Amino acid sequence: MEVQRGQWSSKMGFILAAAGSAIGLGNIWRFPYVVGENGGAAFVLLYLIFVVVIGLPYMFAELALGRFVQRNPVGAIEAIRPGSLWKGVGYLGVFTGVGILSFYGVVAGWTFGYIFKLMLGVVGDFASFIADPWLVIFLFAFFIALTASIVHGGVEGGIEKWAKILMPVLFVLLIGLIVYANSLPGSGEGLVFYLNPDFSKLTGKIALEALGQAFFSLSLGMGLMITYGSYLSKKENIISSALYIGFFDTLIAIMAGLIIFPALFAMGASPNEGPALVFVVLPDLFLQMPGGAVVGVFFFILLSVAALTSTISLLEVQVAFLVDEKKLNRKMIVWPAAGFTLLIGIPSALSQGSVDFFTNFGLIPERLCAPDFLSQMSFLFGTFSLAFGALMLSIFIGWVWGADKATEEILQGSPSFQKTHKIWAFMIRYFIPIIIFILLLNIFGIFN
Ligand code: PHE
Repeated sequence: MEVQRGQWSSKMGFILAAAGSAIGLGNIWRFPYVVGENGGAAFVLLYLIFVVVIGLPYMFAELALGRFVQRNPVGAIEAIRPGSLWKGVGYLGVFTGVGILSFYGVVAGWTFGYIFKLMLGVVGDFASFIADPWLVIFLFAFFIALTASIVHGGVEGGIEKWAKILMPVLFVLLIGLIVYANSLPGSGEGLVFYLNPDFSKLTGKIALEALGQAFFSLSLGMGLMITYGSYLSKKENIISSALYIGFFDTLIAIMAGLIIFPALFAMGASPNEGPALVFVVLPDLFLQMPGGAVVGVFFFILLSVAALTSTISLLEVQVAFLVDEKKLNRKMIVWPAAGFTLLIGIPSALSQGSVDFFTNFGLIPERLCAPDFLSQMSFLFGTFSLAFGALMLSIFIGWVWGADKATEEILQGSPSFQKTHKIWAFMIRYFIPIIIFILLLNIFGIFN
């Protein structure tokens, strides 16, 4: 059994990798558009509440299980409850990773393409860009290949080093953009939309969407933090690590909104653009800014790096599963795994106007999400599967493995957890699964 497993070189290495997974297109692309589609500030507030009362305590649980069993999600469950049906939850997690990567990679490809568009200074029309089938597939394939080559070569060296330098740069750039966007005439209305909640707009569907976005953004619900936790040493403090990750992830999302909404209202555009939102608003903002083309190139480079640290983590879950459970050689399996994801992603790539069938796919009803294949994948895997996975995993960790066992694991490295572990046990066993369950009932239109 004792095949040499990797381990993070330091606490910093782990936090960076996990934060790198969490921070990505989910913060800068997905967060603003779901806020826009779901009515603004009331959604934001609900999102923040879910991050604190569900996301973070749930993250402790995934990390604890991962570190305890030192395995991928399927292996983790098998180690605790061999031969049971619970294993299906692990498989669901691995498959959710494939599903998310399949559409996430498409959007990462758009991001990458925008580096060149801004370099050339001709941005053109976003809708016709994403409707160009060959270009979009090429960019998607390129991004997946980039991801695979890094996962193939090992994560520690290159990407950790670059992320360490580039993420602070992204942070500074976002601050500059916040200042600029909020100085535009008409931007104040955007701030109101973003920060002044109108609770009459809240519905059950919006609450589910906020919960799903919290899981998506924190990379929770599919066992990613089980996998990353499995490389974590017993000395490290699970609680403080999770708090750092959650804090920075949420901060970056909130900052992205502070750019997009003021800019959007200043331009007189509608927040209801869907997945196109940041690609329509930001380039416009850059092109009217003094020196903005350079800033824009820079911005899309940084966003591509942020996306890359997330795609790496998504591919890593599949790879860890194949290596641990199927005893396959890491180097040999990375490319076929990436190729499989690429195939699954092609319909998403073709769903933005190039192929009618995928553009108007509409298998999941309109009241839950837009009809294009990409939005449907995003809802199915990025919202529903993560919430459902988190429901099952919180029950598994809280009841089957046991909150007391998890507590014991967390206490190693975080002795101060002694003070709060009783509240946490209540949350992971009752509060979290019950809230998720209630919100999931929306899917069936049981309450709205
Ligand atoms: N959290 C990532 C983002 O916000 C996306 C992601 C989801 C990555 C689930 C891994 C697992 O961009």
